[in-house]
Amino acid sequence: MKKLILILGLVISIVLVMSFVQNDTTDNQEMVAFPDGYRDWTHVKSVVVMESHSLYERFGGMHHIYANEKALASMKDGSTYEKGSVLIFDLRHEVVADSFIYEGSRRSVAVMIKDSVLFPETGGWGFEEFTKDDQRIRIVKDANNQCFSCHKTQKASDYIYSKYRD
Ligand code: HEC
Repeated sequence: MKKLILILGLVISIVLVMSFVQNDTTDNQEMVAFPDGYRDWTHVKSVVVMESHSLYERFGGMHHIYANEKALASMKDGSTYEKGSVLIFDLRHEVVADSFIYEGSRRSVAVMIKDSVLFPETGGWGFEEFTKDDQRIRIVKDANNQCFSCHKTQKASDYIYSKYRD
């Protein structure tokens, strides 16, 4: 019996080490899936970035931020986001007409998913941005430079800018 437990233990250890090595060699960003169904999540807020802003080329337009249930819980009580928390930055062109600002066509869907084991170098968050409505076209090649460079300034709130409001 003891021998069996020992062998079992050894097998489990080998499997664990193998999965770790595999994770290490896979492109991390491939692990961030397109967030199907995020329009049913909680809408946190919307912001319009106007043409006069220096970031207009990259992030201009109307964006909506969404949080899944796990992310919302931490946003509300200020705790560290737990594994599986997902936040969405849904970016659309802005259409200005008759003193109204409408949302236009989609520019991209940016995603942050919390998994400290998979993404230790970017604050425990996996970053990805999908172009327009095409879930196959991924923009992020280097999450550290393309995304975390800004988000790391928000360390006090676990790298998330948005705050909860009633
Ligand atoms: C130029 C700085 C900058 C860069 C680069 C950047 N972000 Fe952000 N990000 C922000 C700001 C500022 C907000 C908050 C916007 C608001 O208040 O509505 C934000 C919000 C978000 C949110 C909503 C959660 C939160 O923190 O409020 C997600 C998801 C997100 N960004 C993903 C990404 C991804 C993915 C990338 C890389 C492709 C990226 N960001 C690159 C500045 C940046």
